[in-house]
Amino acid sequence: MNLKILLIDDDESLRDIIKDILEMHNYDVITAIDGLDALNKFEADNFDLIITDLMMDRLNGIDFIKKLKSKYENIPPIILMTGYGSVESAIEAFKLGVKDYIIKPFKVSLLLNIISRVLKQASLERENIHLKEIISLYSASEKINNSIFVDEIGKTFVQSIREITKSSIVVLYLKDQDHNILKTQEDFFMVSSKIIKDKEKIFNMFKVKIPLELALKMFNENKNFYIIKKNIPFVEGLKDVFQTVIVQLKTASNFIGLLFIISLDYNVQLQEEKIKALKILIDESSIALENALLFQQQEEMFFQTLNSLALTIDAKDKYTHGHSLKVSKYSEIIAKRLGINEKITITIVEGALIHDIGKIGIPDGILLKPGKLTDYEERIIRTHPVIGRNILEPLKKNFGKIIDITYHHHERYDGKGYPEGLKGEEIPLEVRIVAVADCFDAMTSDRAYRKGMSIEKGIKELIKNKGSQFDPQIVDCFIEDISEIKRIYYSKPEDLVSKF
Ligand SMILES: [Fe+2]
Repeated sequence: MNLKILLIDDDESLRDIIKDILEMHNYDVITAIDGLDALNKFEADNFDLIITDLMMDRLNGIDFIKKLKSKYENIPPIILMTGYGSVESAIEAFKLGVKDYIIKPFKVSLLLNIISRVLKQASLERENIHLKEIISLYSASEKINNSIFVDEIGKTFVQSIREITKSSIVVLYLKDQDHNILKTQEDFFMVSSKIIKDKEKIFNMFKVKIPLELALKMFNENKNFYIIKKNIPFVEGLKDVFQTVIVQLKTASNFIGLLFIISLDYNVQLQEEKIKALKILIDESSIALENALLFQQQEEMFFQTLNSLALTIDAKDKYTHGHSLKVSKYSEIIAKRLGINEKITITIVEGALIHDIGKIGIPDGILLKPGKLTDYEERIIRTHPVIGRNILEPLKKNFGKIIDITYHHHERYDGKGYPEGLKGEEIPLEVRIVAVADCFDAMTSDRAYRKGMSIEKGIKELIKNKGSQFDPQIVDCFIEDISEIKRIYYSKPEDLVSKF
């Protein structure tokens, strides 16, 4: 197939001569009489190269290039034809990305040389882009395979598809297990830089719930994707859609969701071959999403179990009612403020929920004693971290950090705590966080033998014991904003039982 050139010049005779010569050299040529005419011709066709005159009446060369760049993400290389005396404009054109220029009048052989050089360079650039795509596919695939979180996998997947296809909008809809629908979220919605300012407005159009049955019906011929012109099924309100590609995400046993790749730009047209080339990433992401959804379900079940366990531990003593739940919420605040990643934050929250599980093994006579404890009774109470560790021992392989929190939550920063007397950073960060949350709630709650402190007094105590009992950085972080602390302090325990 011949390469296609858009030739723009207001001089009819020159236009015809160049057209004839280029056609003799096996190029297909479409001519335009000025920038305005060229814009219309560009809109209706695909070109490999543009050759444009600079000075034209209705829309000159510079303004034509500016318009083209503002409207399209990918434009073919441009060669400028210019006369003497318009050097400044030529410089401006170069700033706009023009690849080469030729000064009129010129020899035909020179024009042909320039064309061949520019086309060769463009082909090299395309190869380069192709190489970059392969690298970006590889790194996306690595990131997706290393994650167990639905949000993270979905986001990386959508982001890479957007970058590789250069599409205007990419959106992922996932199957919602409970409601027989597909839905999306902000993380799974990416747009090109051209429409980023309208991202929120456009996202609102995509917030639809797609009935699972209808989604499945679309693919009943076992087709993996559809290419649709100027129409987005299920979504209303978006104008100027040029092409919509709908890809089915599925694994050997499950339908996972739909991916929409939408182009508002004539020049970004996704061909079947390109979609097929993305198949590996699409398949890998479908499997990763399936596993992550399963993991999420199990994690939620495990979390519910821990919540029930926390309520059981706290129910032993009416004075510690809600203690474990509050400690887990305070710990969550600290972890998030410290910028700890989601996976470790979940572990901290889970560990905090059952940090006192060992109290189950302490006789009620000692645990619930209203008065001061004898030395012997104190020693018995102090065994609860060890009992806790023993209870959780069977979970050691997968939940080692949770056991650390249970076992070490009475260690002190200065090494004077128990059971091991660990000091400073010998105490794992997760444990140091829970220790601050635990003591704060213990101090500010009523006990059988004393009234709880106010929030303000509790904070003063934390500050006083910075560096001795507590890690100073964690205290600073905890007291940085007390409005959230107040909300938890005044909550009923049952309102704190929530999905993480
Ligand atoms: Fe404790």
